Amino acid sequence: MEVSPKTYEALCRPMIGHRGQGFKDLYGKIQPQLQTLLGTRQLVYLSTSSAWGVMEGALRNLVTRKVLNCMCGAFSDKWFDVSKKCGKEAEALQVPWGSPIRAADIDARLATGQFDALTLIHNETSCGVMSPLDEIAALKAKYPDVTFIVDAVSSLTALPIPFDSLGIDVLLAGTQKAFALPPGLAVFTASPAALAKAATVKDRGYYFDFVEFEKNARESMTPSTPAIPHVYALSSKLDEFYAEGLDARFARHTRTNTMLRDWAARHGFTLFPEPGFESRTLVCVNNGAKPGGRTIDVAKFQKLVKDRGVLIDGGYGKIKGTTFRISNMGDETPETIAHLIGILDESIAAL
Ligand SMILES: Cc1ncc(COP(=O)(O)O)c(C=O)c1O
Repeated sequence: MEVSPKTYEALCRPMIGHRGQGFKDLYGKIQPQLQTLLGTRQLVYLSTSSAWGVMEGALRNLVTRKVLNCMCGAFSDKWFDVSKKCGKEAEALQVPWGSPIRAADIDARLATGQFDALTLIHNETSCGVMSPLDEIAALKAKYPDVTFIVDAVSSLTALPIPFDSLGIDVLLAGTQKAFALPPGLAVFTASPAALAKAATVKDRGYYFDFVEFEKNARESMTPSTPAIPHVYALSSKLDEFYAEGLDARFARHTRTNTMLRDWAARHGFTLFPEPGFESRTLVCVNNGAKPGGRTIDVAKFQKLVKDRGVLIDGGYGKIKGTTFRISNMGDETPETIAHLIGILDESIAAL
């Protein structure tokens, strides 16, 4: 994921005070753009943190009895650890890396009546698995008192995630992945029920207090000093999204992702995720982690690719080397992906 010169320029705009009209105008301008992007009439909040700030904050604001952490990769697995570190009662719904989280499994756990919240990562970046959010969100009607907290860190902006019609309670994303901004900012929204619940929760802290976010956002402000350069950059990026058109942006991601899937198949590789649950923003190539497909020396391949001027990832955590990942998120276009594919072809030939 690359940060464009235009975004760097936006980051360098002259500074303004965060309690002045200039900031209110800036936040006021991006609020409707964010609401459209997240498919919500709720306010969208700006958190000066990476995604984990809001992921931890959601637990602290919204778990009162027990949380079900749906786990299918490194980041969703870690959310379970974070629940325990926050002192919350937590249970793991673990599926093997590469498999999606299925609604039927969640349903069976929620039916026990033990849980008042669940966490789900829509697009598990570590292993390229996208869980079926529509199917899972449909469970909310059956369990209205369970708070559904969804991380869309590496999928928001690449495909529609209509918060209000899904009926979920929290939707969050860091902006350094599919938004193609530098790290340091996260966006999120929360349902009226989630906000009402948070207001009753003690010890929810200050920095990530959802009630404070709501109160401040009504005045186009943030609870504490925001990373204003990032907000300028976000504003510039949102203008780009709407100049392109969201549907065109979504279609571009589908197209570039297909190009990478086709590249992998052409070279005899299979993908790591279970078929039908592959990410739309990256491909996670199976390189021996699962039976089937071709295997190569990933470290050597990665170096050959890097020597030709682009970066791919050599696999995350316990599947390092037995998988590798190639991203098509952010500003990648069919042209930049075609260029990348040329490099991948040359590098494979040089192995
Ligand atoms: C899906 C997902 N969730 C959460 C995170 C954690 O984000 P951060 O380290 O920026 O807080 C990542 C990071 O890559 C991610 O891919």
